[in-house]
Amino acid sequence: MNGITYNELLSSLSLSYKQIESLSSEKAELKRTKRALKAIVEFNRLLQHKTDELNLLKDTCKLIIDIAKYHMVWIGFCWINQNNEKVVSPVATYGYDEGYVENTKIAWDDSGVAQGPTDIAVRTGKPSVCRHILTDKEYEPWKAEALKRGFKSSIAIPLILEEQVIGALNIYATEADAFDKEELSLLMELSNDLSIGISTIRKRAKNKDNENKLLEINKKLEQMIMNEIHKRMQQEQFLIQQSKMAAMGEMISVISHQWRTPLNCLSLVIQDIKEAYRHDELTGGFINDTVSKSMNFIRFMSETLDNFRNFLTPSKTKVEFSVRKAADEILQMFSDLFSRDNIIITLEAEDESESYFIFGYPNEFKQVILNIINNSRDALIMAKKGLSDKNGYGRIFIRLKKRDSKVIIILCDNGGGIEEDVANRIFEHYFTTKATDGTGVGLYISKTIIENNMGGSLTFRNIDGGAEFKIVI
Ligand SMILES: Nc1ncnc2c1ncn2[C@@H]1O[C@H](COP(=O)(O)OP(=O)(O)OP(=O)(O)O)[C@@H](O)[C@H]1O
Ligand SMILES: [Mg+2]
Repeated sequence: MNGITYNELLSSLSLSYKQIESLSSEKAELKRTKRALKAIVEFNRLLQHKTDELNLLKDTCKLIIDIAKYHMVWIGFCWINQNNEKVVSPVATYGYDEGYVENTKIAWDDSGVAQGPTDIAVRTGKPSVCRHILTDKEYEPWKAEALKRGFKSSIAIPLILEEQVIGALNIYATEADAFDKEELSLLMELSNDLSIGISTIRKRAKNKDNENKLLEINKKLEQMIMNEIHKRMQQEQFLIQQSKMAAMGEMISVISHQWRTPLNCLSLVIQDIKEAYRHDELTGGFINDTVSKSMNFIRFMSETLDNFRNFLTPSKTKVEFSVRKAADEILQMFSDLFSRDNIIITLEAEDESESYFIFGYPNEFKQVILNIINNSRDALIMAKKGLSDKNGYGRIFIRLKKRDSKVIIILCDNGGGIEEDVANRIFEHYFTTKATDGTGVGLYISKTIIENNMGGSLTFRNIDGGAEFKIVI
């Protein structure tokens, strides 16, 4: 046989067989590598259009089967189920599964369940390959079910997101010895791309979520602002109403204050009728005098009403009037009341020929004079109560003078004056030392009329034995 021994032939045949075997295995590996590569290219194309995570996972599984021609694939995520067990829960599967994934429980903690490629991959963060399911002892718990479905080798590749394992990509092949180094590195690349895809979709969803939350917050804010505006408007309405009520209350207290003296006088006049009747003095002249006096008080009260209707917002026009005439009128009307309390009011003008004209509101000015002399009357009555000699007269002086085209009105009494510690508070609204007899409104109104409405000044000082008020207009 051309010099070749049988043994030599046999050994050369066996060598060629090994070469053929190795050649065909190389060819199979090359084929699988090519498929894995194709799968990567397709996957990257797929990734560009995906916006939904589950959809991406499902399509990735399908692509791995359809293009890379593996037998079965599934993707599982690490999960803590309702029994508080750490399991790898399948989220997408494709290929020849036939209930394999559903019935396989894979734990990622040390709860006693045997360890297979998936949970090793999840725990270690590294791919785990089983190249011979038939002979691999570690694979024992799943072997029967795997072989039933024709799985001969498998690989589990961890899915890592921001350095944290979130699950695994599991692939099964019908050939033993699949998933060599080259193929493994390509599949790892694919799983890495898948992780990036998941991360991108999640970030996008999170952004969208944030956007929605922002929209919701904006909506809520808008609503809150609207509610606040509504509340403010209601409050404003309430405040307007309240200030109206306060203004009304102030006006009523002013009017009742200003009416007290003429009402007192009116009641005295009426009582006098009874007395005159008793003493048979009810003559025509008396009646005429009484009616004219009463009408004067009523007119004064009616004018007070008119004056103070616009007290808070004076709208009337100012007129020129004689201070002397205004003071005279007040004294004529009220001197009776004062003389009953043994009080003598004296009006003195520095220049007897002068009328002392000023610009302003005559009736309101009369109210001021009345307020000041009424206070003097109160002080004189109080002072008298404390005196042992009850025959002493109370005195009130109204003095008129002119300085630098300004009219000065001095009103003073001998009622003892004002205690120094309260003197600086007498113009305050509601400040009174008269307990229930006073409202503390008189001087406040007087100052408002003189200073705010008539542009003058009203001041006070204690003088020897009494009080002095000074008006400069
Ligand atoms: N001539 C005065 N002599 C002494 N005290 C005075 C005199 N004038 C004012 N006062 C003091 O100033 C206070 C405030 O006076 P005001 O006229 O504002 O209120 P009132 O007289 O107490 O009450 P009302 O509102 O009824 O007039 C008085 O309570 C009183 O203590
Ligand atoms: Mg008073």
